[in-house]
Amino acid sequence: MGILIITESFIYEKKGAELAIIFNDVTKIYDSKIALQNFSMRVNPGEIVGLLGPNGSGKTTALRIAVGLLKPSKGDVIIMGHSITHNPEEAKKYIGYVPDEPPLYENLAGIEYLQLILELWGYDIADKMNEIDELARILDMQLELNDLISSYSAGMRRKIALMAALIHDPKVLIIDEITANLDPKALASLAILLRGLKEHNVAILISTHILEIAEELSDRVVILHAGEIIWTGNPKEFRKEVSESKRLEDIFFELTGGPEVEQIINYLRRYTK
Ligand SMILES: Nc1ncnc2c1ncn2[C@@H]1O[C@H](COP(=O)(O)OP(=O)(O)OP(=O)(O)O)[C@@H](O)[C@H]1O
Ligand SMILES: [Mg+2]
Repeated sequence: MGILIITESFIYEKKGAELAIIFNDVTKIYDSKIALQNFSMRVNPGEIVGLLGPNGSGKTTALRIAVGLLKPSKGDVIIMGHSITHNPEEAKKYIGYVPDEPPLYENLAGIEYLQLILELWGYDIADKMNEIDELARILDMQLELNDLISSYSAGMRRKIALMAALIHDPKVLIIDEITANLDPKALASLAILLRGLKEHNVAILISTHILEIAEELSDRVVILHAGEIIWTGNPKEFRKEVSESKRLEDIFFELTGGPEVEQIINYLRRYTK
């Protein structure tokens, strides 16, 4: 069994060089609870995929496995041709990851935190100062970079985590709960940033529990329910298919946001189109 898994990973490592992210039949069981079951999907370079599902459907579990923070019970994830299970050091070089509640060093100023991250990646901060300025401008963080992280609001914490995730020019960007703690203006800035990264061939995997957000930001959605993929495709097609399936209709109502989401979407469109 072990040999078979290694062999499959090896084949995917060889094949997967042009594909940025490959989830290959990933299952995660916590104690006796199945959080993710036979999960297989791919993200191409230059593609934004939205992992969409209600609370508890397995989104965070899938993303944490992809970035090597959680071990799969079965299966593997291949990042830019490298297995996250068998070759994590190589695979992680390509990844930028933003968790929904990022753990940060509270006693550092934002800029010191970025400097630390750059040192860990082996960069000289002087070479990256222009990039930091540009990211700070887009995310409206210029004034806050010199403040201690302990004084940051939840939104600022996510923005500094986003900057830290992007600063080593990852080819794969993974953002959990894309809307978490971001106001409409910050989300619009992030949407613009994601489009720029897409133009540069970065593969982007985001998660959300709100259909409209996934529709607005992604090229393709993968819908998770109770740990299983129940639908995947162009988000506009999903709405068409919902009317023909009772099961999809029930899930559709779990995922659709209220009037406040409509406002966010209007704002996003105004600033990103
Ligand atoms: N550490 C854990 N131990 C036991 N069960 C867990 C653990 N983490 C997650 N689970 C369970 O796995 C399932 C999937 O959880 P997960 O956090 O991946 O969902 P999610 O789609 O990210 O949800 P949300 O939208 O609330 O963030 C849930 O039933 C959850 O209770
Ligand atoms: Mg989650």
